[in-house]
Amino acid sequence: MDTNAKLYQDLERVLITREEIHEAVKKLGQQITKDYAGKEPLMVCILKGAVMFYNDLIREIDLPITMEFMAISSYGNSTKTSGVVNIRKDMDVDITGRDIIIVEDIVDSGMTLSYLKKVLETRNAASISIATLLNKPARRRVDLDVEYYCFNIPDAFVVGYGLDYAEKYRNLPDIGVLHPRIYTNET
Ligand code: IMP
Ligand code: MG
Repeated sequence: MDTNAKLYQDLERVLITREEIHEAVKKLGQQITKDYAGKEPLMVCILKGAVMFYNDLIREIDLPITMEFMAISSYGNSTKTSGVVNIRKDMDVDITGRDIIIVEDIVDSGMTLSYLKKVLETRNAASISIATLLNKPARRRVDLDVEYYCFNIPDAFVVGYGLDYAEKYRNLPDIGVLHPRIYTNET
């Protein structure tokens, strides 16, 4: 922890350690390997938050996957959803007939992925499923199937392992609850 000591001072507490993340990601990779046996899933990384998770997850999947990246935004610098979702970067390939796995950092209200799923559904994929590192079921505002998740977490704002607050803390190796004093002055 000492290599990032400054960043850790902004945390209320560490919620999930790097070891716990590693174990859970490994398990999920094995599950996906089983479920997609004989297939070549197209794994879509949702930038930027899912980068660390994606990077670790795909190496735990023993299948010929392909990598794609999308960037969508719904948040700005706030800790609450704006309700506005837009695609900032799209995939470069035709996904007709492909088995898509959307890889996301966290499903909170569910609005971002619900929107994205609807967009992708118009592109004739064979299947679309969601793999998220974190799931906040208490905050769900739309009906959304989340096929895979590593951790259910309580309603708290978390950072680290790719997750940010105002673009900071993504490089924390563990996941922690951000101290409210960091964002209480936000407008
Ligand atoms: P949703 O549309 O409310 O499900 O929001 C999903 C997006 O909000 C995620 O991709 C994150 O970028 C962001 N988000 C939601 N909760 C948190 C959190 O606790 N920490 C950091 N980002 C979050
Ligand atoms: Mg995100």
